[in-house]
Amino acid sequence: MYKIIIDSCGELTEELKADGTIDTIISNYIGDEAGEHPYETPEGTEYPNGKLTMATNAQFESYEYYDGDNVVGIDADIAAAVADKLGMELKIEDMAFDSIVPAVQSGKADIGAAGMTVTEDRATQVDFSDSYYTGVQVIIVTDDSDITGPDDLKGKKIGVQQGTTGHIYCSDTPKNGGFGEDHVTAYPNGASAIQALQTGKVDAVVIDNEPAKAFVAENPGLKILDTEYVTEDYAIAVKKGNTELLDQINETLAKLK
Ligand code: ARG
Repeated sequence: MYKIIIDSCGELTEELKADGTIDTIISNYIGDEAGEHPYETPEGTEYPNGKLTMATNAQFESYEYYDGDNVVGIDADIAAAVADKLGMELKIEDMAFDSIVPAVQSGKADIGAAGMTVTEDRATQVDFSDSYYTGVQVIIVTDDSDITGPDDLKGKKIGVQQGTTGHIYCSDTPKNGGFGEDHVTAYPNGASAIQALQTGKVDAVVIDNEPAKAFVAENPGLKILDTEYVTEDYAIAVKKGNTELLDQINETLAKLK
């Protein structure tokens, strides 16, 4: 199976990690203290430096999802913390997951924050920050399924979200740990893959563990298998060679130290 560890560049998240901000943000969404540590903009923060645009796909609890009209979640909070440090106003753009890297590449967005896995291929298109969380690709099946682990997925119909690592890995050849693209159906978002599972169009859904937990909690009759399919690192994407943003960030970080 896959284990992806790639050295990433940029110091976008270093200071936030060092001062515990990121741990606090994550604890507001995952674990026993969820809801108890909302991120708060430091008092007196001003925004003279324009907008910081974050590209995301906001159907991915607990990283980004809608609370009413607002996109909230771990990535939204981390981006807010970065924007606050830069004196920039955060603007969140919700789009298809596979539009995020192109948006960052073209400069339509300054950063991509979407529970995005660092992969070798993506790292040729964008630069990644340090990793801020480990994600796991898990398998969701119906309660009565005879599928008990990745090996049982051979020859089955698998639902995934378009352009995600779950999609990429599952579509790969069996030799590379995948199941072959003929066995994989890609949906525009996790929710529609889950719907396909419930209506019997697919036998299993492969998706990241945090949204998986949310989907299973919201949809009775589904379960997450214990066996992990792939472990990976999440990071924030910036335009390749955008040293201006990185320098600005690094300067801000240096000032704060
Ligand atoms: N971690 C997976 C990937 O990078 C899935 C991310 C999906 N994120 C989202 N916001 N829908 O491909």
